[in-house]
Amino acid sequence: MWEAVSKVEGHQLERTPLSESEFIETAEQAARLAGRVLADWAKKFTVREKSPANLVTEADLVAEEAIYNHIRGRFPDHSFLGEEGLSETNHDSPYRWVIDPLDGTSNYVHGFPYYGVSIGLECDGELTVGVIFDPNRDELFSAVRGGGASVNGRRIVPSGVDTLSQAMVVASLPVVVKPNDRAVQRFLAVLPQAQTLQRLGSAALNLASVAAGRIDAYWSSSLKPWDMAAGALIVAEAGGRVSKTDGGAFEIEVPDLLASNGSAIHGELQQLLK
Ligand code: IPD
Ligand code: CA
Ligand code: CA
Repeated sequence: MWEAVSKVEGHQLERTPLSESEFIETAEQAARLAGRVLADWAKKFTVREKSPANLVTEADLVAEEAIYNHIRGRFPDHSFLGEEGLSETNHDSPYRWVIDPLDGTSNYVHGFPYYGVSIGLECDGELTVGVIFDPNRDELFSAVRGGGASVNGRRIVPSGVDTLSQAMVVASLPVVVKPNDRAVQRFLAVLPQAQTLQRLGSAALNLASVAAGRIDAYWSSSLKPWDMAAGALIVAEAGGRVSKTDGGAFEIEVPDLLASNGSAIHGELQQLLK
């Protein structure tokens, strides 16, 4: 179930199947290219703190450049937004690529193999294509609006778990967090109710995992557009549900996301996250 707000109500998209397949093919190629950059830099990167505990490495920067160069080579008129400073706006184009070249930088830095590349494409503000690549498992998750979601070409669907007491749920907390923060209070509210609650360090892979039925639900109120763009579409296209934590319509610019398999777990979490 999809609950995104379209910026252009009733707008008819003029897309041909050829464009869509070009977009997805380009996104997949770019994600794999970035995956190679992450592997190349894995043993030699240096780490810098953009702000306390918010890490960046050469891998983040070089991967973003590789993605940008690849996509821009195919679609020079499109707009771009990327975590590592990429911001290019062409008001004449309806298309904007939203890119996180390395989601899970802390995990990457520590050698914990749970990070990925996330590339989303909006058309007139509506998510249209999403690709997430997990280089450690060589898994490429992808979705096209209206076309379902897949991993390495195999169709994926969310889990069938329908009660929180049987569910594995995941949360992302802010990078810097104090014991009294609302995010911690919400985490503690869910902790005794879920079968298990994890904090794993990659929003993109968490969303891909909800879509693939490996995680039953995921929430965060501290994400950026590039953390969510591809994953929100992949969950929705897999048949899951994406909303704000209060059940309202998901908006990519608003850091408030609850993604689930679409079962009653969604409502249970909404109540606990109030
Ligand atoms: C981070 C991860 C993490 C989430 C943070 C994000 P980054 O992305 O997605 O799970 O909790 O809010 O910033 O910085 O590794 O790209
Ligand atoms: Ca991220
Ligand atoms: Ca990142």
